[in-house]
Amino acid sequence: MAGVVILTGAGVSAESGLGTFRDVGGLWTRYDLTEVATPEGFARNPALVHDFYNARRANALDAAPNAAHLALARLLDARPDVTLVTQNIDDLHERGGARAVIHMHGQITRARCAACDHRWDAPRVMDRSDACPACARPATRPDIVWFGEMPYHMDRIADALAACDLFVAIGTSGEVYPAAGFVEEAAAFGAETLEINLEPSAPGRFDRVIQGPATEAVPAWVAEVLAT
Ligand code: OAD
Repeated sequence: MAGVVILTGAGVSAESGLGTFRDVGGLWTRYDLTEVATPEGFARNPALVHDFYNARRANALDAAPNAAHLALARLLDARPDVTLVTQNIDDLHERGGARAVIHMHGQITRARCAACDHRWDAPRVMDRSDACPACARPATRPDIVWFGEMPYHMDRIADALAACDLFVAIGTSGEVYPAAGFVEEAAAFGAETLEINLEPSAPGRFDRVIQGPATEAVPAWVAEVLAT
């Protein structure tokens, strides 16, 4: 096996205490995503959006990486041909020791200026009126990709998908594009596909499915890979 792309979603951080989006009680069952996760929502009510992400940031900073994050970091250390792409905005892969993580939906620990596009490390609590360190304008937003915006690093991800022999989706519902289409993209280039999930997302979409909680299923799969 050479060339592996791993895509993680909220399920990999669920057992660290961070809520998923679409499971029972998930964030999008409690919040209107058009109000808190779109550029239009931010334009209408920036304070509401900052409140939402300040709470997400507090949760993420207070959480600890779990056995799945640690196992993926071990795999990355042992296998330079593994590319880790995450839809998660938390930093638990990094704090679990992952050497390189592609954050396609941005990072809760980063701030961005909506006026000049400068980016910097986010304080724990942010407000739109915080001055940008580069241009001083009060246009601070979280460095998060919202619905209607282009995910980050798509060229790098497309190259990795075209070159991989194995694509693995972990803890993601496969509801949000473009990430949801990565499995078909990798398969079209001849990769095998594997899903690791508590509840498989879509029967028949992947060549193989490992069902179980990420903290058990991911370390077991990583051990299997490292033994070959
Ligand atoms: P979802 O909430 O849509 O899906 C979470 C997935 O994790 C589901 O398939 C669950 O079965 C699975 N899951 C839950 N607990 C698990 C566990 N302990 N072990 C393994 N799997 C578990 O979250 P995502 O697919 O990550 O984007 O959502 C994708 C994007 O939608 C997010 O990045 C976010 C959201 O809107 C933006 O905000 C732009």
